[in-house]
Amino acid sequence: MPVNPGVLVSFEGGEGVGKSTALAAAEAFLRGSGEPVLVLREPGGTILGERLRALLLDGGVEGIAPEAELLLMFASRAQLLAERIRPALAEGFIVLCDRFTDASFAYQGGGRGLPLSWIAELERRVVGIKPHLTILLDLPIHLARQRLAERACDRIEREDDAFFERVRSSYLERARREPDRFRIIDAGQPPESVAAQVKRALASILEGRG
Ligand code: TMP
Repeated sequence: MPVNPGVLVSFEGGEGVGKSTALAAAEAFLRGSGEPVLVLREPGGTILGERLRALLLDGGVEGIAPEAELLLMFASRAQLLAERIRPALAEGFIVLCDRFTDASFAYQGGGRGLPLSWIAELERRVVGIKPHLTILLDLPIHLARQRLAERACDRIEREDDAFFERVRSSYLERARREPDRFRIIDAGQPPESVAAQVKRALASILEGRG
């Protein structure tokens, strides 16, 4: 039986936008449709990636240089591509990735101010693919902050509002430039409405799969 082409779907947005809930809804919907699904996260998803994640987010390492942060994000991504994403796509899986390269553009480019041309070069040389669909959950920073206030923050979540405003603008700008790839979802809606919109976006992916 011919294998359906693999599909990569990324979930993006600032902190506290409800990415995990939206991703869980997407996974349930696709599994319910009988699709082979693989859920991964960035940074992380491999032994190397999870160790890098711990160092990057809550390893007690302060003062990480923006350039080091960028390269470690790409190191985790390179390993995830080699070990998990490329093989799964070759087998026809729908890969749901909790963040992908857009996060490096938004956080290390927008947030930290590193040149976008460097990130584009790393994307071209190290990653080589873009998601087929990117679901961007968008929420004003003050609303996201209220949600974050309920839990302990990691190293990046402790950044100030100006940082997260730049991250948000970068995401929205990327979505504006690539309207066919991005679906922007208003994350201020009730979770059921967000889930319904996520399913609608995924339905277009399912069309044409045997
Ligand atoms: P999350 O799992 O809660 O989304 O945490 C991942 C954190 O890492 C989040 O603060 C965004 C950040 N991040 C980057 O700064 N650049 C990247 O390329 C990726 C994938 C994540």
